[in-house]
Amino acid sequence: MDAKEVNLSKEFVDKISPGTTKLKLPIAGVKRIIAVSSAKGGVGKSTISVNLAIALKKLKYTVGILDADIFGPSIPKMLGISEKPKSEDGKNLIPITKFGIQCMSIGFLVDQDTAMIWRGPMVSSAIRTFTSNVLWKDVDYLVVDLPPGTGDALMTFSQQIQIDGVVIISTPQEIALLDANRGIKMFQKLNVNILGIVENMSSFTSDDGTEHFIFGKDGAKNLSKNLHIDLLGTIPIEIGLREGADHGEPYTEFFEDSVAGKEIINIAKKISEKIK
Ligand SMILES: Nc1ncnc2c1ncn2[C@@H]1O[C@H](COP(=O)(O)OP(=O)(O)O)[C@@H](O)[C@H]1O
Ligand SMILES: [Mg+2]
Repeated sequence: MDAKEVNLSKEFVDKISPGTTKLKLPIAGVKRIIAVSSAKGGVGKSTISVNLAIALKKLKYTVGILDADIFGPSIPKMLGISEKPKSEDGKNLIPITKFGIQCMSIGFLVDQDTAMIWRGPMVSSAIRTFTSNVLWKDVDYLVVDLPPGTGDALMTFSQQIQIDGVVIISTPQEIALLDANRGIKMFQKLNVNILGIVENMSSFTSDDGTEHFIFGKDGAKNLSKNLHIDLLGTIPIEIGLREGADHGEPYTEFFEDSVAGKEIINIAKKISEKIK
């Protein structure tokens, strides 16, 4: 069954999953929402979110990025943003623009040194802020870095925000793929359109040109085949990707001709064709 088709028919969704269509909120100033998810932490969800946003910008779209990872917001650091968003009317937040990308992070709204226990109502109020109190400007694609896992917070986000499609990130490692499989099943249950899988950390090529498959080989390719989901691309381990993330200088912004940079731009092209 085509998930997109299901999304289009509210009657159908209401029949199999009562109430879910009524909850979903559009975001003012945003045309399309692309969510990035990984069932497992540390597989590169945020790194790919940032580089995907840069790639979409290079394809001449107006891009926003929403860091909704309540457990570890890291987009501001990866974009080198140290200031907090301002508000002119004391109510609506103005996203911070960096590298031509409008950015809003849950990390701006909470004290990151305080351990936060997020319960349903807090997640809901954060979503309300993002959907109605952020002044996004003419955004063609909003990339959303979702919380990892398949827990409550993620469920709330994906049930309440009108996601046009979700990209699943996994490494080729068996344990990551098991989690990715669970994540995919969850999105299917929630009637979220799955755009495809991106395999991150596919391999590492050492200075002598040898390719090493550190986390195993073809894992995501096989998973995508088994589940009939597109493999959008495979991104190698490149030191620059890690350095760029640490230094707030997104790799694809500066090295679009690298292997990883080209692949990410390719993935962005595929996604923009899937959701126009
Ligand atoms: N393809 C890659 N090559 C090199 N380093 C990577 C790659 N993808 C992610 N990383 C690094 O791996 C770590 C985890 O990535 P991150 O994006 O923070 O994962 P997540 O958001 O899934 O927790 C970071 O230090 C990041 O810089
Ligand atoms: Mg992250």
